[in-house]
This record gives sequence, C-alpha cells and structure tokens, in this order.
Amino acid sequence: MKRVIPFAKAALVVVPLVVVGCSTTAAEGEGEGDPVGEGEGEGEGEGEGTVTWYADVLSVARQRCMQCHVAGGIGPMDFGAEENVDVLGPAITGEVAAGTMPPWMPSAACGDRRYLGDLSLADDEKALFAAWAAGGWLLGDVSDDPGGSLPTLPVLASVSDTLDAGADYTARNDLADEYRCFLLDPGNAQAEHLIGYEIRPGAASVVHHVILFKADRTAALARDAEDPADFGWQCFGASDVDGSTMEDTLAAWAPGAGATKFPEGTGLALAESEVLVMQVHYNTEAVVVVPPDRTQVLLQYATGPVVEAMMVPVIDDDLSIAPGATGHQEGITIPSPVTADIYGVLPHMHALGQRITVSAAGDCLVDIPAWDFHWQSSYFFTDGAVRVPQLASISVDCTYDNDTTEVVRFGEGTSDEMCLAYFYFVPNP
Ligand code: HEC
Repeated sequence: MKRVIPFAKAALVVVPLVVVGCSTTAAEGEGEGDPVGEGEGEGEGEGEGTVTWYADVLSVARQRCMQCHVAGGIGPMDFGAEENVDVLGPAITGEVAAGTMPPWMPSAACGDRRYLGDLSLADDEKALFAAWAAGGWLLGDVSDDPGGSLPTLPVLASVSDTLDAGADYTARNDLADEYRCFLLDPGNAQAEHLIGYEIRPGAASVVHHVILFKADRTAALARDAEDPADFGWQCFGASDVDGSTMEDTLAAWAPGAGATKFPEGTGLALAESEVLVMQVHYNTEAVVVVPPDRTQVLLQYATGPVVEAMMVPVIDDDLSIAPGATGHQEGITIPSPVTADIYGVLPHMHALGQRITVSAAGDCLVDIPAWDFHWQSSYFFTDGAVRVPQLASISVDCTYDNDTTEVVRFGEGTSDEMCLAYFYFVPNP
C-alpha cells in the first residue's frame, strides 16, 4: 500500500546556492613553472607544460575545494598548508578522478538539467588534476602561485531575522555522528512569506548538514521541555515534535552552500503560530576536541506580494528491504494532483540508500547514482520551472543495499529507511 501525502500544505525549502568559481587555469604554468617537487615525483615531466601545485592547481583548488578544505572548515585537511599537500597529492587526485570530491551527488546524465549551487568540476578542471598526478604531484615554487581569493558565498539581500538556539551546544565526542534538534522561535506577530535564508554554521568543522523543519510552537516548546537538563533533543529523520508530519520538512543545507534565494517572485508561508526546528548533524570524526557550536539561521521575508509556493513530499512508505539484499528497488508513481510548476526537488533516503531518481512527466528531475546521507541537499533548476500537467506521472525510485541482519522498513530512526522527494512547486490554475 503506497501512501501519497496529498499536495496540501505550504512549507519552506532551501536552495543551496554556492558561488562556483570559474577559474580554470590552463594546464600549463607561466614559463616552466619550476617543477621542483619536494624530493618526490621521480623527476618526471620536467620542463614546459609541467603541471605544479603552485603554478596551476592551487588557484583551482582555492575556488573548488577550499571553501571546505581550510583550517576550521568541514573538509578535514587544509589545502593551504604545503605540508598537507605534499603528502595528499595522490588522495586529492584520486578523489577527483573517482568523482567523490568535490561532494556533488546529482548525475550529469539527468537530461541537460543543471542545478543552483553545482559543486562539480568542469572537464578541464578534472584534466588539470589528472595532469598533476601524471607529472608526479609536483609542488613547484610558491612564487608561481598566481594568487586569488577563496570563493565568497552568496549572502541574503536583506535579513529580516537571525535565529539561533540561544546557547552553545557541544556535540558528543563519543559518537561519530550526532543528530540534534533545537527550537528556533521567530516570534512572528503575523504570517510571513519566506523568500530566502542562510545557514551559518557556528563550528564549521563539525556541522555536516542542517535540516529545518517547521512545527507548531506549543508542541515544539513541549518537546523542548521534556528533558530540561538537556539542551535541545535527539532527533533523526524528522523533528520528533508531537503531531509533526513528513510535510513539515522545510529545507536541507550542506556545507559549501551560501544564502538561498527562492525562485524569483515565490515564497513559502510561515504561520505566526509556527516555529522552526533546526536539526544539526554533527560529525566529529575529524576533530580531537569538539568545538562548541551555535549555528545561525538567517531569514528573509517578502515585503510585497509573492506567489505562494508549496513544498510537498511524495513518499513510498511501504518499504521492506530484506537482510543482505543488494540493489533492492522500491518506489512510487502517482498522477500529479494539479498542474504544477516545479522549481526544485529535495530527495531523501537514509544510510542504506544507494540511488534515488526523481522524474515527472517523463522528465528526469534529479538522479543521484551514489547516495550519501551526509551530503543530502535540495536541488533547484537553473533554467526555471518544469511544468507538469495534472495527472502526469510523478515518480520517486530508490535502490538500497541492506548490509544488516534485519528487515529494514520505513521509519524515522537511524536504522529505518525512507524513500521520498519533496517538490518545491507553484500550482498552476
Ligand atoms: C563542500 C565541502 C567540500 C568541498 C567543496 C570539497 N571537499 Fe573534500 N572533503 C570534504 C569533507 C567533509 C571530507 C571528509 C569526508 C566526508 O565527510 O565526505 C572531505 C574529504 C576529502 C578527502 C579525503 C578523503 C578521505 O577520506 O580519504 C580528499 C582527498 C578531498 N576531500 C579532496 C577534495 C578536493 C580535491 C576538492 C576540490 C576539487 C574537495 N575535496 C572539495 C568537504 C569538501
């Protein structure tokens, strides 16, 4: 029995906007690029055209890697430190060749669809990393560095409200992953339309992703008060507030994303009786001492009329994944209840998910061939809305490998699974 959550409520959503650097240094330095590595590299490829870290690769890495791989960033190694790069060359080019870094999950083979905040490398940038490997990961000379700044992330044009949990929280060091919910009350005196927002991680080295939910204020306050000795509460798939449903998910944010501006002229309603619940996924694997965190959420409300968008999930909640199963497929197809202009999608599975594909009216909207729960985010189309006629098919297809000894079913727990996608859309009359 497949349950369809009706297209009903308005909610909030996130666009992970990232400034994507366009610096694609040609694979040849100025002059010879002084290909003198620090005693490594077998002396291969000396001379004209030799690719070195300083002359060629660093300026690309600054734009494409170092919004994360800096001291205090979520990326575990600072690429600005020569002693790191000296030993990491093979890892760096290996990750790039495998397509696992930069972390960008959507397949380029989903039609010609492109998304805001695309972190993926251009072909010539990939070729540059490959050439650096082929030449033996030469560092070159620091004076060959053409310089350049780190990417600046987009910010909100104006900020209506800045919210945080009200105190610092230090994630537990005995868990690699901790999922913690905090109540953020905008205290609005009237209903608002959210047209943009930004997540600013407090302790960037441990804030691995953030999900925002909306919740009824009274219910959220009650949840928060359940354990007064404890700041915030444990939560995983959802906010764990009484009465909350899958329709209350607002947004997902992953590192590397700056401010989010919703598609022009659209916004999401936030009732005055509603608060935000911010779920922070802390990953403490790369740090010795866990720094205290106070992640901020910045909101921009509409000051004039906007078209009200909706954020509604299509869910397959009838999952049964046998122990040991590989390539196990689940999914749901429904007729679109309305003619909808879909601007973006937020696919969601848990840890056993391998692949998720979302399509509408025969169009691929997003295809994630190697799902990683840690990098979930929302994907907004760069070229505007996809119009889906009423009754046209909308599908969400999920593939799982179950390496546990239990049958895994739909649920909110870490060991349960999910198969769904949220659609940010405007119903078309
Ligand atoms: C949006 C943030 C982000 C960007 C951009 C990014 N990385 Fe990473 N990188 C991470 C994080 C976080 C990890 C730790 C592993 C994980 O959580 O997936 C990581 C891990 C790595 C690792 C170690 C993998 C391992 O576990 O052995 C390498 C090497 C790496 N990144 C290279 C790169 C390169 C090269 C680029 C740019 C071309 C890049 N990264 C861009 C966040 C980022």
